[in-house]
Amino acid sequence: MAFFPGTRLHVVTGKGGTGKTTVAAALAVALSRGGRRVLIAEVEGRQGLAPLFGRGPLPHGETEVTRTEGGGSVSVMPVDPERALIEYLDLFYHLGRAGKVLQKMGAVDFVTTIAPGLRDVLLIGKVKEAAVRRSGSGRYYDAVVLDAPPTGRIVRFLGATDEVAQIAKVGPIRTQSEQVMALLRGDESAVHLVTLLEEMPVQETIDGAGHLTGAGLPLGAVVVNKVRPERLTKADLTRAAQGRLDLDAVGATLAEAGLTEPGLAKVLADEAAEHARRVALQQQERRELADLDLPLVELPLVPETVDLGTVSRLADRLGEAP
Ligand SMILES: Nc1ncnc2c1ncn2[C@@H]1O[C@H](COP(=O)(O)OP(=O)(O)OP(=O)(O)O)[C@@H](O)[C@H]1O
Ligand SMILES: [Mg+2]
Repeated sequence: MAFFPGTRLHVVTGKGGTGKTTVAAALAVALSRGGRRVLIAEVEGRQGLAPLFGRGPLPHGETEVTRTEGGGSVSVMPVDPERALIEYLDLFYHLGRAGKVLQKMGAVDFVTTIAPGLRDVLLIGKVKEAAVRRSGSGRYYDAVVLDAPPTGRIVRFLGATDEVAQIAKVGPIRTQSEQVMALLRGDESAVHLVTLLEEMPVQETIDGAGHLTGAGLPLGAVVVNKVRPERLTKADLTRAAQGRLDLDAVGATLAEAGLTEPGLAKVLADEAAEHARRVALQQQERRELADLDLPLVELPLVPETVDLGTVSRLADRLGEAP
């Protein structure tokens, strides 16, 4: 497993819908191979990971969802901010049953609604707690993958503890914030950016990389997801784009295959032109991403519904990445 071998906390962000959850799952599987224990933390209350491992909704807490080659395992931890707040208060203030009462009264909801920063602190606090456990402890993980909020909110999310630390000058919240920032900014963490080879996600990746670096957060790889295979040679792509494909030759090949429907060669040539335009666009976006000077990993667009089989094939690709 060569994907960022020194990293313990892998934060996966990117524009909405680019494949953060899918990539987080694939990365966890890749990292777990060869006997490592990996945890994926989910903080947006979406339960998007469980179905990828063939599971229904998972409880707050850590649930093993799959075993992988060489004795590795992947667990998923959906973090519920309400439960995290109760646990947190209980840990420092020994609320006992009072915590349950607070929850019933809706106090937790109230607190996390008026102070959304606090909500983020609680979520990231749970992730930190799992990431800093030492080997030898029962639920130790070799790596933690965070299926994080999208690029537009990531710096705010990861920096929430910094903001809260400004207010809480002393006490457990302050200590907690310092530990979180030390972990996030340390060399055992990396923020990976998932993108598509399309204008908007690429722009968001470039902007996001700038904001993360500005906040002192270490960047990992750019994961280019849903890459369309290129089916034609360079020369044919150029010809297709310019509408100069030899229709007679295409027609002859079709006829050899028993396809003699009139106009079929023209339909195919139009599709080839469209394909050539997309390939050219992908190439342009690739160049823009290359300027970021980060490791780039490409994952193919898979034709089928994404399931554990797909996730493990995407994991193969991540495992091969430098
Ligand atoms: N390589 C791929 N090939 C084909 N489909 C994919 C691939 N990666 C992800 N998808 C599909 O794209 C959709 C979005 O993926 P996913 O949910 O992982 O994105 P996300 O960034 O986590 O989205 P959100 O911002 O809503 O959390 C899903 O339907 C998923 O199955
Ligand atoms: Mg998601």
